[in-house]
This record gives sequence, structure tokens and C-alpha cells, in this order.
Amino acid sequence: MAHRRARLALIPAAGRGTRFLPLTKSVPKELVPIVSTPALELVVAEASRNGVSEVLIVVSKGKSAIADYFAPDRGLETLLQEKGDAAGLASIRHAAQLATIHHVEQSAPRGLGDAVAHGEHFAAGEALVVLLPDDLIDERDELLGTMLDLQADRGGIVLGLIDVPRAEIGKYGCAAPVPGADPTADVVNIADLVEKPDPRDAPSTLALVGRYVLPPEIFDALRETQPGANDEIQLTDAIRRLARDGVPVTGVVFRGRRYDTGDRLEYVKAVVQLAGRHPEIGSDFTAWLREYVSRT
Ligand code: G1P
Repeated sequence: MAHRRARLALIPAAGRGTRFLPLTKSVPKELVPIVSTPALELVVAEASRNGVSEVLIVVSKGKSAIADYFAPDRGLETLLQEKGDAAGLASIRHAAQLATIHHVEQSAPRGLGDAVAHGEHFAAGEALVVLLPDDLIDERDELLGTMLDLQADRGGIVLGLIDVPRAEIGKYGCAAPVPGADPTADVVNIADLVEKPDPRDAPSTLALVGRYVLPPEIFDALRETQPGANDEIQLTDAIRRLARDGVPVTGVVFRGRRYDTGDRLEYVKAVVQLAGRHPEIGSDFTAWLREYVSRT
């Protein structure tokens, strides 16, 4: 390997979560429960099991519940200790044990690119992993480790991709492979990117799935990037700029299980699937669900 694997990650969690109103009036979207664990903890756990030891969470004003969630709660710990609730105690300590968590506040909602720009000081010249907390990757399936190995080996930018039906590509950033690339390959060289294309003009059906390994050059590119789709500074546009400047961009096509918690319908599907394999309630829930579906 040419370099060491990236060990720093940034998780943007500054959005208003308007698709989840009224809940998100007071609860950050990133804390929506997957049974009883916030989605954000599952994403931090994914980073942690892939060797990422420091995580910077970008929040907006009024989202202090996120910092509270990762901070120790001595009063609650004492209460659970006195009750002899070892499982409860382990569960509330788990999140903080996954990685060292840092927080920074994004002052205005200027988009994903601007949120990532808040990581410049934290990255301090090292490669930075970005994980979008709306996308959950099943822990039984491999993506981030492969991306980190490839980035350590080749340098440049490494992107997690999924192949989606053409009608859906407009919801995502789209990555165009170099001409002549094998459409069935799991690792593809990327020539160009476009954020939320019209499906009729999209250069491919490969969508960015919210996992990025970025080199330090990303911060200069973000500074030079003007607002794009939705009038926001798009990370996709900054990556495109680097690709055009000759920085190698590699895509890893993920064909495993992925859940989207950014949309209400997809979120409910994620909860149903993950509840079905929950260690405590999984078998009872699955038995009930079978019976419920056959009855309705
Ligand atoms: C963001 C990115 C997009 C990416 C998507 C993955 O879009 O801008 O490139 O494909 O996340 O979930 P958003 O879902 O925030 O609109």
C-alpha cells in the first residue's frame, strides 16, 4: 500500500430534516430510531469497524441532542448500576466507545459541500472519509474497507456507488465511468460526475451512495465551487472539478444490502428489515409480521 488507510471521518448532520416534520421540529433526523438505536450510531459503528478512530459530526444550531447522545451521562449510569441493568448500561456507553467524537457547527444551510468544508482543520492534510447518515450499509456486507484499501493504494478519490434503475438516478449524484469501462465491474474508473441529473440525460445509472474517501485537495476545490443543484454547494461538483483536473476518481460498486433512512417510506422499510434480525425482538417480530401479512 502506498499510503496508510484514512482514519478520520466526517458525518454531515446539519440538515433540517424537513421530510420528517413534525418530528424534526425538536428531534434531529439523524437520531431517528432503528428499533432503539439511532441511525447515526449505526453509521459511526460502520466507520469504527473499518478502523476510523476519529469522527467529526457537522451539526446546525439547535441540534445539541446529537452531542448529548455521544456524551457520557453519569446520572443515568449510576441509576442503571443501582438497578443492576448491565445491558442498559452497556447500551448507553456503546456509542462513545466506537470512536472519539468531535462536533462543529455549520452556521448556514449552504449544502453538503459546505458541510464537508467544515472538516478542513480536522483533516489537517490527511485523507477524510465522509459518511452520509441517511444511507445505512448492512454490517454483513463490505464496502468501506474496500474503499479505504483502494484509496491507500491509488490515492485520489474513492466513491461508493450503487447501480439504480434509470428512473431513480435523479435523486442522486451520478458517476460516469471512463469510456469503454466494463459495466459489470465492481471497481470502475470515473471520468465525470453530475448531481441529480434528469434521468433521460444521465450519463450512467451509477449513483453515489453516501460513502466517500477524499484527499486534502477537496478543500481547495470546495472553495472554488459555486452553488449548483438546489442552489447549494454540492460535494459532487467539487469532486467533478478535481476529476477534470486529473485527480484519479475510483468507484466501488456496492451490490449488498443498503437502507435509506432519508425518506419516510424507505425509512419504514429499513426499520422492518432491521427489526426482523434484531437479537432480542427479531424472531417474535418476524413471526408476527408473517401472520399479519397473511391476514391482511
Ligand atoms: C446527497 C448527495 C448525492 C448522493 C446522496 C446519497 O444527496 O448530494 O450526490 O447521491 O446524498 O444519499 P441528498 O440525498 O442529500 O439529496
